[in-house]
Amino acid sequence: MNPTIRAVIDTAALRHNLGRVRELAPRSKVLAVIKANAYGHGSVPSAVALAGADGFAVARLEEAVALRAAGLRHRIVLLEGVFGTDGLRQAAHHRLDLCVHEPEQLAMLDAWRGDHEFSVWVKVDTGMNRLGFKPAQFPRALSRLSACAAVAKPLTLVTHLANADDRDDATTREQLDLFGRLTAGVPGERSIANSAGTLGWEASRADWVRPGLMLYGVSPFSDTTGQGLGLRPAMRLETTVIAVKDVEAGERVGYGGAWTAPRRSRLAVAAAGYGDGYPRNTPSGTPVLVNEQRAELVGRVSMDMITIDVTHLPRVLVGDVVVLWGGGVPVEQVARAAGTIPYELICGVSQRVHLDVR
Ligand SMILES: Cc1ncc(COP(=O)(O)O)c(C=O)c1O
Repeated sequence: MNPTIRAVIDTAALRHNLGRVRELAPRSKVLAVIKANAYGHGSVPSAVALAGADGFAVARLEEAVALRAAGLRHRIVLLEGVFGTDGLRQAAHHRLDLCVHEPEQLAMLDAWRGDHEFSVWVKVDTGMNRLGFKPAQFPRALSRLSACAAVAKPLTLVTHLANADDRDDATTREQLDLFGRLTAGVPGERSIANSAGTLGWEASRADWVRPGLMLYGVSPFSDTTGQGLGLRPAMRLETTVIAVKDVEAGERVGYGGAWTAPRRSRLAVAAAGYGDGYPRNTPSGTPVLVNEQRAELVGRVSMDMITIDVTHLPRVLVGDVVVLWGGGVPVEQVARAAGTIPYELICGVSQRVHLDVR
């Protein structure tokens, strides 16, 4: 029996999207960002599908260890680096590249006495004000790392863009200029672009691009979908109808009676709710597909169920397939309706959703 709710993962779409990155950035190496369970797509199967990338990036040590345990031998970069000697020991054991963004991490590397040389991606904060050495600290960080016996040379020089998803925002240009000034004459490869940089800012496609979202076929820009950018959505979240019922005009539906039937209506109850990662604040009117035909969510999303107005559809039966996003329902559209971003929806698919990797 099919599991009630499943995220169908299209590995051919992942490969296609990697190909799109290669087209856009033919001179760059690709560090495929597969943190957070590959944005909900399953980290190991996604890594296997994206094996043509030049390396992988994850946020946390455990994510990298899981990839090594699955036999992946690519370069793996820990985007947050490690803290503490135990983390460093594990990074050495699993041959992980480290992002270094913090003075404590410099001290830790200085104190390292093992024989492993770490490949280091040193990060400068050019305006994001999250991770990275401040511009004033950066030259000192570079000279300490250059003098550190535990660090392989040359370093890779990294920054992260804060606003690249807004093609009119001057911040990206300022970040690129500052990064250029701070790294002028410093040996080593450069890495700047996330998906929005890769797609929208040619000057950010340096030696390494670091796409995440676009690999999953989703747009980082709010005015278009992945499809509009030549990408193919890799996740289809689908479930089944578990009840069909009629309500009279004026009857209220679901918790809080948040939707009132404007006419005699037929409703399909589908097995999906915020317990699966379908956001509770998704409003009435948000599109879904029932048997590949468009219908609308009505009433409040509960933990395990949603209600869909199927009055206009010919015959809807228990067991029919409902698509919540992917295919004809762009996740970007659902995210906008729910007042969030597509990153949050795909990453937020919960553990009880079966990943059906194809
Ligand atoms: C440092 C870094 N690089 C690249 C990415 C990939 O970003 P995106 O998914 O927008 O392509 C992320 C994701 O948040 C990141 O933190």
